[in-house]
Amino acid sequence: MKGVVFNVLEEMVIEQCGMLAWNEILESQALEGIYTAGESYPDSDLFGLVDCISKQTGIPAETLVGAFGERLFKGLADRNPMFIDAESTLKGFLKSVHDVIHIEVRKLYENPNLPDFEYEDGADDTLLMRYRSPRKLCILAEGLIRGAASHYDTQITIDHPVCMHKGSDHCDLIVKFL
Ligand code: HEM
Repeated sequence: MKGVVFNVLEEMVIEQCGMLAWNEILESQALEGIYTAGESYPDSDLFGLVDCISKQTGIPAETLVGAFGERLFKGLADRNPMFIDAESTLKGFLKSVHDVIHIEVRKLYENPNLPDFEYEDGADDTLLMRYRSPRKLCILAEGLIRGAASHYDTQITIDHPVCMHKGSDHCDLIVKFL
């Protein structure tokens, strides 16, 4: 996982729990905590940090990953406003993630680990995003989508009827625009 993801996690923990809490979490994981945005770090470090934050706060890991996804959207959008400004609607933006934004991410960062999205744009008020990734971070994807919805000031619901964590080879995220 790229250092930028750790940078945003650090921002979130410091905002919510303070610097002391972040330093304690790093110490308990025997991590130095110096993350360069464009460098890659083991996914297991990120999952270890999430588990530790979950134990310390009593917030279930899944809830935490979803909340982190929302905060991560803001962190990525603040750092790369040009990607978000290019689209005027949430649906247009979500449809640009696979073929525009994550393609640009490949130019910005060396060998990023990105998911695969396929889209079905059935009706005006829904968009199916079919997610595939060996990292199975569908809950993070849901959080990122919610973060985007709040940026575009658009109300949505997300249904997740098919999931890699329930034995499928993909996740279906059905975004409904209210
Ligand atoms: C709603 C919008 C977005 C969704 C649903 C989304 C989805 C994801 C997911 C689920 C991952 C985790 C990796 C995986 O699942 O395999 C990821 C990674 C990433 N995304 Fe996106 N993304 C969105 C917007 C953006 C934006 C706006 C940027 C801007 C630069 C961005 C840059 C990245 C980067 C840098 C990574 C980490 C790559 C790595 O660690 O190697 N994403 N994205």
